[in-house]
Amino acid sequence: MNPHRFNPPSPSSVSSLFLRFSILLLLSLPDAKGKAIWTAHLNITFQVGNRIISELGENGVFGNHSPLESVSGAVVLPEGWNQNACNPFTNFSRPEKADSWVALIERGGCTFTHKINVAAEKGANGVIIFNYPGTGNKVFPMSHQGTENIVAVMIGNLKGMELLHLIQKGVYVNIIIKVGRMHMPWLSQCVMFLFTFVSATVAYICLYCAWTSDISVAYTRRRRQVKADVKKAIGQLQLRVLREGHKEVDPHEDTCVVCFDAYKPQDVVRILTCKHFFHKTCIDPWLLAHRTCPMCKCDILKR
Ligand SMILES: *[C@@H]1O[C@H](CO)[C@@H](O)[C@H](O)[C@H]1NC(C)=O
Ligand SMILES: *[C@@H]1O[C@H](CO)[C@@H](O)[C@H](O)[C@H]1NC(C)=O
Ligand SMILES: [Zn+2]
Ligand SMILES: [Zn+2]
Repeated sequence: MNPHRFNPPSPSSVSSLFLRFSILLLLSLPDAKGKAIWTAHLNITFQVGNRIISELGENGVFGNHSPLESVSGAVVLPEGWNQNACNPFTNFSRPEKADSWVALIERGGCTFTHKINVAAEKGANGVIIFNYPGTGNKVFPMSHQGTENIVAVMIGNLKGMELLHLIQKGVYVNIIIKVGRMHMPWLSQCVMFLFTFVSATVAYICLYCAWTSDISVAYTRRRRQVKADVKKAIGQLQLRVLREGHKEVDPHEDTCVVCFDAYKPQDVVRILTCKHFFHKTCIDPWLLAHRTCPMCKCDILKR
């Protein structure tokens, strides 16, 4: 039995693969500047009856081309039957008392750049775009080239609808948008990838070690068993003490092939199942090691 016959690829080849992967990963890292995502903290304040309600949440992300600045003001809707501000003549129903305002616009109908420019031309200090219906609270960093001077933030559809309904009911809503934290999706992806790869490698090496030690334990156990069987089989083989006059003692007869000595009277010989015989002191250690007859190779365990 050869325990090393069906070896899987060894751990060293796996680690060299890992090294190659890491180098590949480092080479393919994208430019950090363009890919970072900045979250937006929104402090939304409005008055219901006599109560002033203030709600703070990190529920927006800045657009890719937005300046990373704070902006605040009244939240204002586009006039008309839809909220998408695609019509270049869209008016905004701005409250009298607000000197600074932020447009709340629905995603869709035209490009982000178009909407943002429509609001900017009407004097908005910032633009909040809420996502499509059915997208829950999902947001992503918008691309809106050509609107570099105005803060543009995306919020989820649910949050957007909530604000929309409040304002449509005539509630005055004030918002403060602040720069939140930076996320690097590619970085977390890399980290995730590396983590997965490292844990897979470790798991593989552990499995490999467990597998080989299992094999070697089984192998040692089997060898011990065979040794015990051989000892037992040797014990059952016939012994004979040579006497003067036996034909084996004739100096012209064969010698013991283990020690090359001729057989003499009083020598103790062991007779194998194949009828070959040798000095007991010569053949016993041989059989323990080889378990076959030195002359004909017959196996003493198979009779
Ligand atoms: C949110 O805005 C309100 C009104 O401007 C302010 O009183 C409150 O302190 C702000 N909350 C936070 C946590 O900044
Ligand atoms: C915006 O207001 C102006 C002036 O009141 C009006 O002429 C224009 O039609 C309005 N735009 C829209 C899209 O209703
Ligand atoms: Zn001998
Ligand atoms: Zn033999």
